[in-house]
Amino acid sequence: MIILGIDTSCDDTSIAVLDGYNRVLSDIVSSQVEVHALFGGVVPEIASRKHLELIGGIYREALQKAGVSDRDIDLITVTNGPGLIGSLLIGLSFAKGLALSLSKPIIGVNHIEAHAMSIFAERYVDFPYIALVVSGGHTVIMVMEDFCRSTILGTTRDDAAGEAFDKISKYLNIGYPGGKVIEDMAKKGKRDAIAFPRPMITEDNYDFSFSGLKTSFLNYDRRYGVKEEEIPDLLASFQESICDVLVSKTIKAAKRSNIKRIVVGGGVAANGRLREMFFEKGGENGLEVIFPSHRLCGDNGIMVAVTGYFYFQKGFVSPIDMKAYSRITLTG
Ligand code: KG4
Ligand code: ZN
Repeated sequence: MIILGIDTSCDDTSIAVLDGYNRVLSDIVSSQVEVHALFGGVVPEIASRKHLELIGGIYREALQKAGVSDRDIDLITVTNGPGLIGSLLIGLSFAKGLALSLSKPIIGVNHIEAHAMSIFAERYVDFPYIALVVSGGHTVIMVMEDFCRSTILGTTRDDAAGEAFDKISKYLNIGYPGGKVIEDMAKKGKRDAIAFPRPMITEDNYDFSFSGLKTSFLNYDRRYGVKEEEIPDLLASFQESICDVLVSKTIKAAKRSNIKRIVVGGGVAANGRLREMFFEKGGENGLEVIFPSHRLCGDNGIMVAVTGYFYFQKGFVSPIDMKAYSRITLTG
């Protein structure tokens, strides 16, 4: 079964072709990082224009690399939310056009669920499991009860974890996107140099708040005037605080729900310190913690195809007039 997976939810134009849910035939991700880096963050209007410019060529490239033609496609899957509405609409309109012209079924996929399911492209995971999706736009803990069945336990009340990295990186003018830059600089720093707060870590819920942590960072700089050589210590301490909150709250969710497995997804899941801390604390608590490989952490079309495949297996097909939506709907 040949599945096309399209994601244009933010600043990557991504298209993958899969045979079934775990045989990746091609996977093209055209990052717009260079354009947005000039502004220190994603500019929605520019992202939409870039998607429009790129999507046709990327589609052709994905088919060519996969060695298939349009007629071989059995199922079209596409992210229809949450994300930047203009960006989503480019991928969704393109996918609808294909579905109509090729007379193929189409499935609209939730981007958060796709991050939580991306692991299936590499290995099978038994249900139920707790998923932590950490990216530039989202920080969500959910229970994955079965295929196509999940409940959100908590989410961020303000900035997402990746957004906090990106904003601090922008503030220090050290590069974009911030997560990888900060991770690399933090390697030379001391994690316990500055005692940044751990927002909401002890609260009896699964929500997050990273905006206050960002303010603590700015206040520290304003108060003490950070010198160049102190930056690695500052970043290592900042990263430690984010990782500590993410790991503690996810483990709390697993223990309280009596679920033995945790799967982490999203761009921030590429972070080495987050992985290390999760394996260490997960092990101490008798939990299995699973991370997809790096290429599946950031936005990609593979995870969309994987998720759409399982919906199709359950007999689900989206109507051709489905809409794009920008915000996550909390059903938990
Ligand atoms: O999943 P993703 O590619 O796009 C969204 O859905 O947002 O995630 C992008 C986010 C950015 O905020 C970026 O700074 C962060 O993932 N990120 C990282 C790392 N690599 C990317 N954060 C921490 N450590 C990393 N190594
Ligand atoms: Zn994402």
